[in-house]
Amino acid sequence: MLEGYEQVDAPDTGDNIIPSLHEAFADCFPVGAAVSPEVLESAGPLIARHYNSLTAENHMKPIELQPEEGVYTFEKADLIANFARVHGMRLRGHTLVWHHQTPDWVFAGPDGQPAAREQLLSRMKAHIDTVVARYRGTVYGWDVVNEAIHDKGVELLRRSRWLELVGEDYIQKAFEFAHEADPDALLFYNDYHETVPAKREKIYTLVKSLLDRGTPIHGIGLQAHWNMYEPSLEDIRAAIERYASLGLKLQFTELDLPMFGSDDKRRDVKRPTEGMIEQQRLRYAQIFDLFRSYKDVISGVTFWGAADDYTWLDHFPGKERKTWPMLFNDAHEPKPCFWSVVEK
Ligand code: GLA
Repeated sequence: MLEGYEQVDAPDTGDNIIPSLHEAFADCFPVGAAVSPEVLESAGPLIARHYNSLTAENHMKPIELQPEEGVYTFEKADLIANFARVHGMRLRGHTLVWHHQTPDWVFAGPDGQPAAREQLLSRMKAHIDTVVARYRGTVYGWDVVNEAIHDKGVELLRRSRWLELVGEDYIQKAFEFAHEADPDALLFYNDYHETVPAKREKIYTLVKSLLDRGTPIHGIGLQAHWNMYEPSLEDIRAAIERYASLGLKLQFTELDLPMFGSDDKRRDVKRPTEGMIEQQRLRYAQIFDLFRSYKDVISGVTFWGAADDYTWLDHFPGKERKTWPMLFNDAHEPKPCFWSVVEK
């Protein structure tokens, strides 16, 4: 258990002139990367040097940890936890309850019927107890519930099997179970499009209602899957102010800035142009300037990847192409946007 990574020496090329990313933010917040064991193999030295927090990109999700009822598969998550321990990094847990990447058996009852509320809650509790207990002392905080808000219209909660079969208190229950399993862990609600004003207000409403009911929730995770043009700095600032007014800590949990706008479907751009590189440099600088100015309420910034050679956006359905969203290039070298965030 928990083997597979030895301490690696920092690479000796260029270290005297390339500052460590996380050290550049030592007086602000930890800087993390989402990883898999494969990425730790291919980019271990880069990750150990530049990031001081990890998140499992996939391997702590329900479908990975409990593919069949009572059958837990911890090997890959353990490799990530071990890398974090060996290198003295923080580890965020992602994610305990989600409508996606959760196996169908969770929602199945006897005779092909959907599971009853009590059965579903007891499965939720068993999963949370087992997973949170295993990483207690290593994972300092969990995304307890991911993406529960309805994106459109006036409905507050996403129509998911959790909502249909348990009822709207499934969210509160998840936080209570997680708190019982590890009273020291920081517990987050995590979502995307978190700066879009209408969704921001729904997230605010949900989290406020959880707090009003005494739910053990300590922070909001703002996924921050953004791009060159959206969201505006004003919308990011307004989201920070609004969520921080609840008295919670904020973390940017899945930051990436692909070099395309959301409606730019081109697949024939094989290399970024000088203009795209410059725009990304400026955009990252603006965003990290803003983060620095809110360092009192931001307790972590995690990139959803480590370098441009592999990111989930390369395979985003229907748009397979490189989008160069990270601070390090395919060869793990700092890009102009790296320098724009570390040089202050
Ligand atoms: C969401 C989830 C992440 C990941 C990304 C896309 O943001 O929270 O776990 O699946 O989508 O990779």
